[in-house]
Order: sequence, then C-alpha cells, then structure tokens
Amino acid sequence: MSSSRVGEAAIERLASVAEQQASRFAQVFRGLDYTDKALAERFGGVEMRGRGGRNMPRLLYQTRQPSPLHTLMRLFLLGVTVSLDDARAAFAPLPVDEWVSAGFVNADAHAVSALVRIYPFDGLLLLMDPPELLEQGTGPDFVSGLTNSTAALMCCSIRTQSRATLDLGTGCGILAFLAARHSERVVATDLNPRALCMALLNARLNGLSNLEFAQGSGFEPVGDQKFDLIVTNPPFILGPGKRYTFRDSGMELDGLCRTLVTQAPEHLEEGGFFQCELEWPNVRGEDWKERLSGWLRGTGCDALVLSTAISTGLEHAEEMAVDTDVCDPEVQAGLFRDAADYLEARGIESVGQGFITMRKRSQGVPNWIQIEETRTEKLEPFSDAVLRVFETHDALAALSLEEVLARRPRLSPGLVYETGREWNGTAWTPVAFRLRQPKGLRLQASLDANMGGLIQRCDGGATLSQILSAMATGLKVDLQTIVPGSVAMLRGMAERGFLNFNQ
Ligand SMILES: C[S@@+](CC[C@H](N)C(=O)[O-])C[C@H]1O[C@@H](n2cnc3c(N)ncnc32)[C@H](O)[C@@H]1O
Repeated sequence: MSSSRVGEAAIERLASVAEQQASRFAQVFRGLDYTDKALAERFGGVEMRGRGGRNMPRLLYQTRQPSPLHTLMRLFLLGVTVSLDDARAAFAPLPVDEWVSAGFVNADAHAVSALVRIYPFDGLLLLMDPPELLEQGTGPDFVSGLTNSTAALMCCSIRTQSRATLDLGTGCGILAFLAARHSERVVATDLNPRALCMALLNARLNGLSNLEFAQGSGFEPVGDQKFDLIVTNPPFILGPGKRYTFRDSGMELDGLCRTLVTQAPEHLEEGGFFQCELEWPNVRGEDWKERLSGWLRGTGCDALVLSTAISTGLEHAEEMAVDTDVCDPEVQAGLFRDAADYLEARGIESVGQGFITMRKRSQGVPNWIQIEETRTEKLEPFSDAVLRVFETHDALAALSLEEVLARRPRLSPGLVYETGREWNGTAWTPVAFRLRQPKGLRLQASLDANMGGLIQRCDGGATLSQILSAMATGLKVDLQTIVPGSVAMLRGMAERGFLNFNQ
C-alpha cells in the first residue's frame, strides 16, 4: 500500500479552510465519537500506522464491518482506501467534494483515499503527514506527528499558568495546543511552511483561538518578544546533511541546540522557563557535562540538565538510517555508512539525549547548573519534579546554616531504600546503600554507611541539629567536624528531590 502526500496546491487548500468550515469537519469526527478516549474504550490501544504502530492488523480486523466510524478510522488512522459510498456515509452531512477541496482526501468515481492522517490525542484532533510516507521516501518538508521525542517533551513540559508561551518548531502544533490550555497566548513557529499550514488548520479543527503562527528559523520570527515559557523539540538528531527538516538541523553536531540555549535568555521574562529536548556528542577525551555547562554559564539562568539516554555511535547511526528513513536496504546501508562515518570522523563515541530546563533569574545568589542522569523505559509526566528542583534551590538559598540546622528534614514519599549485602562466609554484611526514586526524575543516590544512617533518620521528627548531635555522640567525634559535610550532602540530596527542609 503506498500513500500520496498533500502536494503544493492541496497544502494551500488546507491552510485556507476557514474556522467555521474546520469546525464542521471536526463535528463529523466528534459526532462519530472519534476521540482518543472513546476509541481506546471500544478498540483497545489505537496507534497510527507507521513504524511504531503495531496495531494495524488488529484495527483492520476490528473495523472490517462497514460503519461511518470504521470508515473514518480506516481512512485517517490506518491510511486505507475506502469505497466512495462508505466515504459518503461517513462524511455526511458534508459532501465528499468538500473533503476533497479542503485537501483531506483524493476521490475518484469509486474510491476515496486520505492525503493526511488525523489522529485523536488528548481530546484533540491532529492532522499530519501519513507516517508511512517516510518509509516510502518523501520530501524534506515532511511533517511528523507524535514521535517519541514529542511524547518525551510532553512529559517534561512545565504546565504552570503562562501569559505568553512560545513553541519553537511546532510541527503539527501538538505542544502549542497543550500549552494553550495553561497559557493566555501561544506563539507557534516553524521553519517549514508546510508544518505551519497543518498547525494552523489543527488549531481551527480544535477551536483554539489563543494561538499565533509565524514562519522562520530559530527565534527570528518572534523578534524581541519575551515569554514566560518556551518549549522546543528542535531537529536535534546528530548527523550529516539535511534530509528532513523535522529531523536534521543542517548545522554541525548540536550547533542548533547550542544556539537556542544561548539565545533563549533574551526571549525569557524574569522567572520564565525554557525547555529544550536535545542530543549531544560524547567526544573522545571530552566531558559532555563540561560541554553543556559551557553553553549555560553566563546566560543569567539557572539550569537543570537531565540526561535520559545514551546510544553508541553505531546504535545512533542505525536509528537514523532505519528508524526514521526509507525502507530500502540499499538506501539504508548508504545512510548508515554516512552517519557512522560522520560520528567516527569527529571522534564521537556515543550520543547522549535528554532535556535542558533553564529559568531566567537575575537577582540573588549566583546562577546554578545541576546535571543529572536518569534512565527509564517508562514515560510518565515528571514536570512537577522538574519545577521542584528550582523551588528547592530557591528555598535553600534563603536559609542560613543555623536555619537549616533548626529544620526537621524529611525524606520524600515513595523513595525506595536498597541495601546490598555481601556474604563473608558466616554472615551477610551490608556493603552498599542506595536510594531510588521510582517516579519523578527517577534519580538514584549511592550512599556509604554513615550517609545511609544519617538519611534514615530524616523522617521529619527531629531537627537536623538533634540528628547530627546524636550521630556525633554515636561516632564519638566532635559535632563541628561532621556538620559541614553532612549539611552539604543533605542540601545536595534535597536539590535532587530525595528530601525537603520545609518544616
Ligand atoms: C522534531 S520536530 C518537532 C515537532 C513538534 N514540536 C513535536 O514535538 O512533535 C522539529 C520541528 O522543528 C522545525 N524546524 C526545523 N528547523 C527549524 C529551525 N531552524 N527553526 C524553527 N523550526 C525548525 C521542523 O520543521 C519541525 O516541525
């Protein structure tokens, strides 16, 4: 089965679908309960066709009996051609011609096929290019839908109230639409005019009126505007050339992300956040933490860097050549070679992936940079934990040493404490202690026996001063010898979300 894409003329037509007409199209979908919630209840998991989507055969089976809802699903989720009669019944009360002239479908005397995918997600309808176009070979201006990186940034995105939010590189608009729920106004930009046409139509399909759209590269389309929140899932994949605008920046290595990070502060209100998903190269002999810290120092922002994944150079080349490109072994072999050679020539041993969250702060203690590593297969929203890191730094910066000692430190709920024991021939001896966060940032901390003992006493009952006095007595040492190290360690653990000094 091969798909056609929306050509130049049709993309103009998509963008010219007016608000009222878009709402009539949306009404057809909603009238048939074509929502993520209803489809999940009736059909189980509903993913679009494409490399990631495994449920195509099941959904084909489940939609085999003709019905207007099944026809919409076959057309716009699965990319299957349907009969003209079935399309007529599904599209009513709008005539098939109206769907053709809007640029949604192609029709002949017998059959109708979709030019776009329309995916129900979180109460929204999202129109995008069919994902299988990538497998078949498509133009550089392909508009991606919900990718793994979209889902990951959604989990990290701060959802506090914002007066003005920028989604830089909006694609089909998904992050902008989610931000529109907690923003007075959202500006969505993209380098790719085709993406903006789709995003504009998506805003209309979803009846969203607090969005503005602007075309251009990086921050250029927003001039000197400032925002409370900036989110960006830019084309961050490290690799040679520029095959696809959604994936390849065309800049050397992580140059685009470095540019965005260093320019973001000019576009942030005081206290405003910038969140960027990114990749960076782990170059032989170079410390990646120093690489990213170098971008962040002197920006006038506090920053949390979260490393979430790492792949070897070869794994990364495979991802580029196989996961996000055409399904043709010969082409893939060439793409793999180019990607692997590109990394090898630059001494890149592996590629790191994660998020940077920056907050503009020009008053008070010096700006800080916190770099954390976390590994998880499971994606769950963790933006509250991201915000807590900033709040904790603020709260601790306001406390003197005496005030810290007078507080009653309390471990965060949900932590897991693990003890590793070694068998010495006659008994098990505890040799390793680890605290783990099963949720949130999902960080881990290895502790020695003394730190383990101290941490376990932080139950919110005693003041830190009392805890340390008891420890000093037990260890038969002078209290003052253990105060500085213990306080520094506990502050660090608080900044990492393991405990708080709120009481
Ligand atoms: C990985 S996609 C992300 C799309 C969407 N925000 C999401 O998360 O699914 C990157 C987007 O950035 C756009 N883009 C690429 N280069 C850009 C640039 N220099 N300035 C602004 N946008 C750019 C692409 O057209 C694409 O829509």
